[in-house]
Amino acid sequence: MKQEKINRNSIFTPFIDKEIKPQKLIELFSSDNETFCDLYFKHLPNEYTLTKDLSKLIKSQSKCISNCDFPDFLRALGAICLNVFIGPKRILFDITYSCNLDCLYCRRHSPINPGDEEKLIPERAHDFFPYDELVQVLDDAQDMMVEEVLLVGGGEPSIHPQFFDIVKAVKVRGFLLSFSTNGLSMTSKLADLIVNEQVDNVTVSVSGVSFESYKKTHPSMSQKGFDRLFNNFEYLHSKRRKYIAEHKVEYSKPFCIFLHVITSDNYHEVIDMALIGQEYGFDTIWYKLVHPSEWSRHLCLNEEQAAQVKEDFKYLKTVAPKLKIKIDDYMDHEIDNLEPSGDWSGYFHDEKRCFVGWNFSYVDLSTDYSFCCGDRIIGQSKSYDNYKQFWTSDEYKKVRKCGRDINYGEKNIVGYNGVSLIDDFCKSCDNTNFNEEMEDLIHDYGLSKFL
Ligand SMILES: C[S@@+](CC[C@H](N)C(=O)[O-])C[C@H]1O[C@@H](n2cnc3c(N)ncnc32)[C@H](O)[C@@H]1O
Ligand code: SF4
Repeated sequence: MKQEKINRNSIFTPFIDKEIKPQKLIELFSSDNETFCDLYFKHLPNEYTLTKDLSKLIKSQSKCISNCDFPDFLRALGAICLNVFIGPKRILFDITYSCNLDCLYCRRHSPINPGDEEKLIPERAHDFFPYDELVQVLDDAQDMMVEEVLLVGGGEPSIHPQFFDIVKAVKVRGFLLSFSTNGLSMTSKLADLIVNEQVDNVTVSVSGVSFESYKKTHPSMSQKGFDRLFNNFEYLHSKRRKYIAEHKVEYSKPFCIFLHVITSDNYHEVIDMALIGQEYGFDTIWYKLVHPSEWSRHLCLNEEQAAQVKEDFKYLKTVAPKLKIKIDDYMDHEIDNLEPSGDWSGYFHDEKRCFVGWNFSYVDLSTDYSFCCGDRIIGQSKSYDNYKQFWTSDEYKKVRKCGRDINYGEKNIVGYNGVSLIDDFCKSCDNTNFNEEMEDLIHDYGLSKFL
């Protein structure tokens, strides 16, 4: 019998050819009482032998992996084998460029940003992600066991003309759904939809809890508009309460996140932000230090302001256990790394690896594919028949390797839009939590030594 030798990259070839079939792998190799290693050798057809390296890797996997843990195991294993065996855990869609607000710190829509090139393209203002193409990606995502869909992007997602249909299309396919909004168009109709559909997470970016500070950060806002915003929060909270009463459940989705970008105009409100968030029924509060651009440096905290925020956080940490709102992140990492220029950095140092290519994917408004939130277009939809083909492509594979190994000799890659895969933006990466999730998995499965 002719023997075929397989290596890390072809670890599952004897079972599934080249197709991506996570369901089949789960069926074969997940179990509560047999280890992955035992199952692998049990199912391996006789005509295959393993390279020494792969044999060592398989033999190191002496844990039983249950079917609910197996998808994440496949992502971790993918990062070690430089291949993909399952889709990303989450896909983000950038569904619109347009916005109904003018946050001063926003790269796209700030009234004081002189330079966003896209602002100069009039059609861009009315650009929305095509619904049919979004549904096609969702179908592929379902097939590849993606778990969560994020609707965010460069503008305000809730003003997409088919936003209601998008929410339904995501939920009907069984994905977790999270979206980010400024809350202005969260009218009773939208609040009813997101509660009735049990949307999973809604992050509301507010960045100020008094009209004075809100107005500084959003110059176009009127007192009436500001009051309407808080009325929207009140309605959403009451709708969730009603859902609990009607369905006799303990809790109603969505999990509501009160997000504040902290600047020199609102830093004095950090305590009030938590208390008001609690009053309006938010489940958690996120503080995020402003990410400065050249034109917005004056919004960064100076030393004195940063010290005051740290002091206020100290107080919040002592009262937090008694609050009904959870304080998820005191932006300690950001504020501890704050430089006099207003930049905060330190995340992506010279020993770090980037693993987000295995658990996160970003579909740009243009329908092309970005590697992450850093606007790095690494694949063009016109070159592929569908999203699945891109996810499993050699092009994506090369980029993943670059992110993983850039600090270990890999050459940087420049995206189709001229943005390099790894650049200074990585130092204050928006996806640190996704990267940390992968680091933990690789560590927990004892895979770090195979990197
Ligand atoms: C660009 S917005 C798009 C979604 C929606 N319009 C919103 O405001 O939530 C996505 C997130 O980025 C945050 N953001 C925008 N510019 C920022 C900056 N310069 N620094 C930190 N966060 C920023 C917003 O507050 C929001 O939470
Ligand atoms: S609401 Fe979001 S997209 Fe609109 S200006 Fe503010 S941060 Fe930018």
